Amino acid sequence: EKGGYQHFMIKEIHEEPKALRDTMASRIVDGKVNLSDLNVTREQLEKAGKIIIIACGTAYHAGVVGKYVIEKLARIPVDVEIASEFRYKDPLINEDNIVIIISQSGETADTLAAMRMCKKVGAKVIAITNVVGSTVSREADHVVYTWAGPEIAVASTKAYTTQLLCMYMMALDFADKMGRISADEYQRIIEEIRKLPELAQEILDDKEIIQRCADETFNASSIFYMGRGLDYAVAMEGSLKLKEISYIHSEAYAAGELKHGTIALIEEGTPVVALATQKGLFEKTLSNIKEVKARGAFVIAVAMEGDTEIEKEADRVIYIPRVYDILAPVLVVIPLQLYAYYVAVAKGCDVDKPRNLAKSVTVE
Ligand code: F6R
Repeated sequence: EKGGYQHFMIKEIHEEPKALRDTMASRIVDGKVNLSDLNVTREQLEKAGKIIIIACGTAYHAGVVGKYVIEKLARIPVDVEIASEFRYKDPLINEDNIVIIISQSGETADTLAAMRMCKKVGAKVIAITNVVGSTVSREADHVVYTWAGPEIAVASTKAYTTQLLCMYMMALDFADKMGRISADEYQRIIEEIRKLPELAQEILDDKEIIQRCADETFNASSIFYMGRGLDYAVAMEGSLKLKEISYIHSEAYAAGELKHGTIALIEEGTPVVALATQKGLFEKTLSNIKEVKARGAFVIAVAMEGDTEIEKEADRVIYIPRVYDILAPVLVVIPLQLYAYYVAVAKGCDVDKPRNLAKSVTVE
């Protein structure tokens, strides 16, 4: 059942190229996004005022990327909310707002409760879910399925990458309907999206350096993640993967925030995973790497092929294939998932069933 793999998690990581391919198949046709499952009109988008993304855990982290790309491409304001926070406040929401619920299982109690609140005020609810027939899929107005296939390991991997892909397709669809994206930019993103499965496979074919980084750091008591912009969004997900399966204390920081407090935690040998894939932010992140290095950090950087300048500053560099940087999260997360996996295996942890966690959180 594990197809020759030692754990479901590593099997599911290896299924990411296929999951991405299946999720875009029939939705990217003749160079255009065709989300027939989602008929949001230009009028609805114009009237919406804002989009609200609601989710928990890893799905929430996909939402953070979603906010960034919808705002960037479609120029529509997006709030991204943790379901358990949203449901217990007096949220600013009205019937014109568009709500996007993200849930792999489609059964998470807090997410369901938040969705029902949104439906009650009459907002339009779109769900991104992986489970056909799940409660979320039955109750939402529209469903965009991630075709990741069953995800069995508690730590979510292929669901996240396909949730990201759905966010990109939706952002393109909204941007196009709003007339806010040039034909060239639209085409460029479509072409790069189509390459993602192949590029993800390249990462999976060359894991040696990631294994080495894990072997060098699995004894650490704390591991920090940092990045700017989309790299920060992925840093949060990388950090969550590590804590849930390896039980190592970890935090993710917006790299520019370090000097406002966190840098005090860096000691001789503290591992810092630094993500530097965003074009306009590369130099900035590089100076943050210098700052933590100066305090003794052991820096594992993730950068794009060709950005070799980073080798001067970081102790180890994991390269991802070059891609339009707005799409980098889909690739960057894969080495982070593998790193968390190798660290957990090196520590002898029960990777597929980490302590205290359940696959589907149906309690509140
Ligand atoms: C992390 C993880 C959890 C889930 C969260 C939401 O690896 O699996 O953080 O992402 O419990 O679950 P769903 O997406 O099923 O609503």
